[in-house]
Amino acid sequence: MKRLDDFRLHFGNKELVPIIIGGMGVDISTAELALEAARLGGIGHISDAMVQDVSDRRFDTSFVKEKTKLYKHNIDNSDKSIVQFDLGRLAEATKLHVGETMQAKRGDGMIFINCMEKLTMNGPRETLQVRLNSALDAGIDGITLSAGLHLGSFALMADHPRFRDAKLGIIVSSVRALQLFLRKTARLNRLPDFVVIEGPLAGGHLGFGMDWAQYDLATIVAEVAQFLKTEQLAIPLIAAGGIFTGGDAVSFMENGAAAIQVATRFTVANECGLPSKVKQEYFRASEEDILVNTISPTGYPMRMLKSTPAIGSGIRPNCEAYGYLLDGSGNCAYINAYNAQIAIHPDGKNISVQDKTCLCTHMRNYNCWTCGSTTYRLKDTTRRLADGSYQELSAEHIFRDYQFSIGQNILLPEAP
Ligand SMILES: Cc1cc2nc3c(=O)[nH]c(=O)nc-3n(C[C@H](O)[C@H](O)[C@H](O)COP(=O)(O)O)c2cc1C
Repeated sequence: MKRLDDFRLHFGNKELVPIIIGGMGVDISTAELALEAARLGGIGHISDAMVQDVSDRRFDTSFVKEKTKLYKHNIDNSDKSIVQFDLGRLAEATKLHVGETMQAKRGDGMIFINCMEKLTMNGPRETLQVRLNSALDAGIDGITLSAGLHLGSFALMADHPRFRDAKLGIIVSSVRALQLFLRKTARLNRLPDFVVIEGPLAGGHLGFGMDWAQYDLATIVAEVAQFLKTEQLAIPLIAAGGIFTGGDAVSFMENGAAAIQVATRFTVANECGLPSKVKQEYFRASEEDILVNTISPTGYPMRMLKSTPAIGSGIRPNCEAYGYLLDGSGNCAYINAYNAQIAIHPDGKNISVQDKTCLCTHMRNYNCWTCGSTTYRLKDTTRRLADGSYQELSAEHIFRDYQFSIGQNILLPEAP
């Protein structure tokens, strides 16, 4: 029986362990986690979601405070269209986050940044252009385009000197999304270096409708592989979503994947950004505690724990401080849902908003417990401690378990 270590991911003349830790915004996939993946010879992701806030916490900058001060007068106004990002400050925050991470990199692996198109930031084109190009400026090894079709994203980077040497790829959930992307970028004469195929069992936002359960990752991988073969395109395919063991990974590698992207198992790593209290919620979860709902203002379904504090919370929109989900005209579905409740309860007290959530604030505070569908199995990957809690794992332990375990075996950590 093969193990994942029998395979390698080839990127030009570079050989990597075919394990990619997926991007998990807002700083759930921390620099520390990504650095471990790179040190061990795989690929780790940081995320540029809410990068100004991440920079404030990592480097003691005050981007959020400054922005809030600038727009303080607008806090009670339901019209958020004036709340804009300063592009120079956005570039500065991105360069800090990426640059410091790249400087700390050791080992033969790589570090990519996850860049979600749905973070429209009240200026979708301009802000995305700055995010992508400043990450390249700061030396990121590669960019994974996600949460959107990214039909114009390659063009936004086309003039950058690193456009043809950085590793650029996209996450899709169907052949159709990939076809659209390739058609739109054809004139640039630059194929993606990799395509992540994310199935319906992943964490975070899903590239499916609420009929997600009718789809299956292995089938989509086979369809995309067939399409690329017909088109005679050699682009490495990376399978993602629900791959829980080394054996799961091997079966995708034997069926045409060049690597696997995983995330859920790393949510309980020491290096993961979630607070320990939240990691214990993930460990304790049972299958019935995990649901897919439509409360994200992005319009994509999202998987999370039922006990997530973000569900039903009626906090005031926080766009003056954050505003990452404001569309091109300064709207966000949460603002509308919130205002509908304010119209019913004008005193603003005890408001509960059920249909949408203020994703910026709740992700920032680790109060939106998004997770993959296999989260309920995390308890089987560790030991129960004397106080009833579960032992957190090192990222290295989880990485090596994927790399070396055979079949459905999972290596437990040594007792503390
Ligand atoms: C907590 C969590 C947060 C995530 N956040 C993002 C994100 O910000 N952007 C993104 O493209 N994917 C995100 N994902 C998806 C992962 O990067 C990855 O592709 C997927 O979860 C892999 O499936 P697995 O979790 O079953 O291993 C997230 C996943 C988890 C578990």
